[in-house]
Amino acid sequence: MTRDLSADTRLLGVIGDPVGHSLSPAMHNAALEATGLDYVYVAFHVVPDLLVAAIQGMRALRLCGLNVTVPHKQAVIGLLDEVTEEARSIGAVNTIQQVDGTLRGHNTDGYGVLQALRQEGGLERLPGCVALLGAGGAARAILHALLQQQEVERVVLLNRTVARAEALAAALDHRNAVTVARLDAGSTAMIRPAGLLINATSVGMYPHADQSPLTDGRGLHDRMVVMDTVYNPSLTMLMQQARCAGARAVNGMGMLAYQGARSFQIWTGTWPPVDVMLQAVRSRLTAVHDRSNA
Ligand code: ATR
Repeated sequence: MTRDLSADTRLLGVIGDPVGHSLSPAMHNAALEATGLDYVYVAFHVVPDLLVAAIQGMRALRLCGLNVTVPHKQAVIGLLDEVTEEARSIGAVNTIQQVDGTLRGHNTDGYGVLQALRQEGGLERLPGCVALLGAGGAARAILHALLQQQEVERVVLLNRTVARAEALAAALDHRNAVTVARLDAGSTAMIRPAGLLINATSVGMYPHADQSPLTDGRGLHDRMVVMDTVYNPSLTMLMQQARCAGARAVNGMGMLAYQGARSFQIWTGTWPPVDVMLQAVRSRLTAVHDRSNA
């Protein structure tokens, strides 16, 4: 890949700690290449003690936009000039846009999950009952997005540490739609009524590909869509359990690509080719596996 960078080239990037594993540079540069837009996207390893300096640097260098990843998504909020209502109620920013010296924080994760459910899960409308596993940062953005959908009447929120799920529900559930329970071998009855199950825990992620957040596939059924936010491996143990039960199962690549696509649009004003972004993510993951198996 050779691109003509010049004094006019605008800079995009991601800040995180660690950031070396991020797929965002590959994904965004592939879309920039395909659209011919004059931007370049790089990764910055920013330790927490230097977050304030990094955001000052963004202003000084007039960077066009940044993605924000772990552990800075919450802390960065207080350093920005404006934050969208959505990002404020989620309590996390994953995208910063700089316009005329003003830094505006967005959160595109909720958009990413809803769009992936539509495009890949085949769900134009969400079912009335959704089971959500997890209570960390990913679960927070997803729960917020689910509760915005009027057709979702009930969310069953399951987590290993119940207190964390209770705290999450207390923060976001303003319409009494969330039921909290422990994620364990007894979760089957809680899961069965759901038409959609989303795994927002990190269980099953490489290198623990033999693990699933559900002890076995009981509770999964053929009228259910299962989305795993894990995308490495691309076919997780949970997805295998889901397919055995006849359910439609998708991994987290769609969510990753659509949240990225929305950020791209915020920065450039152009909707990117999402298939190109997905392909870049797949090739990068394959290359990483090939290297670690060599
Ligand atoms: P993220 O920001 O990616 O969501 P996180 O905040 O570390 O990451 O949250 C990880 C989620 O995976 C949590 O819901 C966590 O459960 P706890 O709140 O009980 O820690 C869940 N998780 C991680 N490892 C797990 C395991 N072995 N079994 C069950 N849940 C697990």
